[in-house]
Amino acid sequence: MSGLLAGKRLLVTGVITDASIAFSVAKLAQDNGAQVVLTGYGRLSLVERIARRLPQPAPIIELDVTSPEQLAGLADQVREHVDGLDGVVHSIGFAPQSCLGGGFLDAPWEDVATALQVSTYSYKSLAMAALPLMSPGGSVVGLTFDATKAWPVYDWMGVAKAGLESASRYLALHLGKQGIRSNLVAAGPLRTMAAKSIPGFEQFEQAWTERAPLGWSLTDQEPAARACLALLSDWFPATTGEIVHVDGGYHALGA
Ligand SMILES: NC(=O)c1ccc[n+]([C@@H]2O[C@H](COP(=O)([O-])OP(=O)(O)OC[C@H]3O[C@@H](n4cnc5c(N)ncnc54)[C@H](O)[C@@H]3O)[C@@H](O)[C@H]2O)c1
Repeated sequence: MSGLLAGKRLLVTGVITDASIAFSVAKLAQDNGAQVVLTGYGRLSLVERIARRLPQPAPIIELDVTSPEQLAGLADQVREHVDGLDGVVHSIGFAPQSCLGGGFLDAPWEDVATALQVSTYSYKSLAMAALPLMSPGGSVVGLTFDATKAWPVYDWMGVAKAGLESASRYLALHLGKQGIRSNLVAAGPLRTMAAKSIPGFEQFEQAWTERAPLGWSLTDQEPAARACLALLSDWFPATTGEIVHVDGGYHALGA
């Protein structure tokens, strides 16, 4: 098998539709020689149906990242399909409606706690659950939305992403000794199920399509997926705790 990820064994979370960033990562990874194991949350029959659209069959393991039992059993379940992992992709985010769309000042702690558990803490939980299968050279990659700024309507999800960006740096610190890297891709706005659940998301769509220096497609997940592949590959061997922007250059602009 040839390709950027030839022989690599990957665990990819976050496929729910064929617009999911994770679906593009899984597809491109298989096209580039990787063996892919998926995890699915909630509607597993839907995930199975979407997975059939991948170039090759991919086993699916049920995983709710807030379930200590499922996290504890993950490594054994992955071992039924592959004998180790070279890479893990965290492509998971969720916030209750109260946390989004301008609700920053009113969202109750219980809802904020859910957003942080699913979108921030789970990055560490997933990495630790997969760690027994990983060895030096391994790579953990997650997806963020540039959290250095306060965006309209993103609210507590922005706070969760700021936490994710920090968590990735701490994971880089703590797993560096074992030769394992942790990096994030900061994608521009893409029309996925998660994005559609954000009231007012069209404000991002308009800003990016009008202003991104390279232009921006709201329906092309491949640029973000390509960056994930690069970070999973052997071509960033000394890079960890990094955030690669795949946003058409939007982050580089002034107000
Ligand atoms: N779409 C965008 O504009 C955009 C931009 C930058 C970053 N991101 C990030 O990309 C990642 C993937 O999102 P997407 O846009 O592909 O949307 P998506 O809706 O396709 O994927 C989100 C995934 O999170 C999963 N999930 C939610 N709760 C979970 C739980 N408790 N346990 C396990 N999985 C759970 C869902 O099942 C789904 O597969 C997210 O972290 C998102 O914040 C998205």
